Amino acid sequence: MYKNIKELFVENEGKGAIGAFNLHCLEMLPAMVKAAEEMNSPMIIQTSAGTAEYIGLELLIKSVKVLAEKSTVNIALHMDHCKDIELLKKCIDLGYSSVMYDGSALPIEENIKNTKEVVEYAHQRGVSVEGEVGTIGGAEEGVVVEKDAAMYTKPEDALYFAKETGVDALAVSIGTTHGQYKSKAKINYELLTELKSKLGTVGLVLHGGTGVSDADVRRCAEEGMKKINVGTELNKTYIEIVNQTFPKATPLTSLRKLLGPANDGIKKVIIDKIRLFKIN
Ligand code: 13P
Repeated sequence: MYKNIKELFVENEGKGAIGAFNLHCLEMLPAMVKAAEEMNSPMIIQTSAGTAEYIGLELLIKSVKVLAEKSTVNIALHMDHCKDIELLKKCIDLGYSSVMYDGSALPIEENIKNTKEVVEYAHQRGVSVEGEVGTIGGAEEGVVVEKDAAMYTKPEDALYFAKETGVDALAVSIGTTHGQYKSKAKINYELLTELKSKLGTVGLVLHGGTGVSDADVRRCAEEGMKKINVGTELNKTYIEIVNQTFPKATPLTSLRKLLGPANDGIKKVIIDKIRLFKIN
């Protein structure tokens, strides 16, 4: 069925983290859903605003809903890192079941004000909201740049932000970086423990899942992360496989034969991640 992420958190309580996988094109979608079904696990499919624009909001939302409604598992469609409140409202109106407002670059009071506006609009329509406090940042050329401790989420800020805004999920910065695929993050577990004890029922979200080792991903799921985002690893896998299939193609080779192996490849990556995320 088609659900929001708050409903998925309730369903998954005590079972570890839910995988949130970034969709880059519609072609990837059926393989992603099949992976969740094979693992009998709920799944969050998330898109950037760029992906949503590339596919087209209505086609994207309807496609996810059609698959979710006939699926054996529960699925949410989530707008990842969006700074545009009007676009988020449009996504909510058209049928996303969850959205993230990213005001992490703003002063905290402004972040709270904007996030609150999104939460009010979303909750009236049964849609869940993720916010962000602290700065997660991005890797350069896939390698992490030394992380400044000042970018870590401050537990008192996280608590204040969560109470003021009423978000369902909160992205926190504990050492991970987006787009890190050539090195592995060093996780600040002390901070994770403190955030977990302060934030109670708000679902903590780990961004930059590609750059986290299997052992650390597992430990994050065990220590209270409720949603773990993985994007770059799917894109990387897809590209590596099509780089092998496309050069051998002739004009008579069906695209199915070229893209099928890449879809199988991301399905395997997702299944392996879900195995690490599930603790029960
Ligand atoms: P990666 O692309 O580094 O896996 O991060 C995904 C993410 O956190 C999306 O918000």
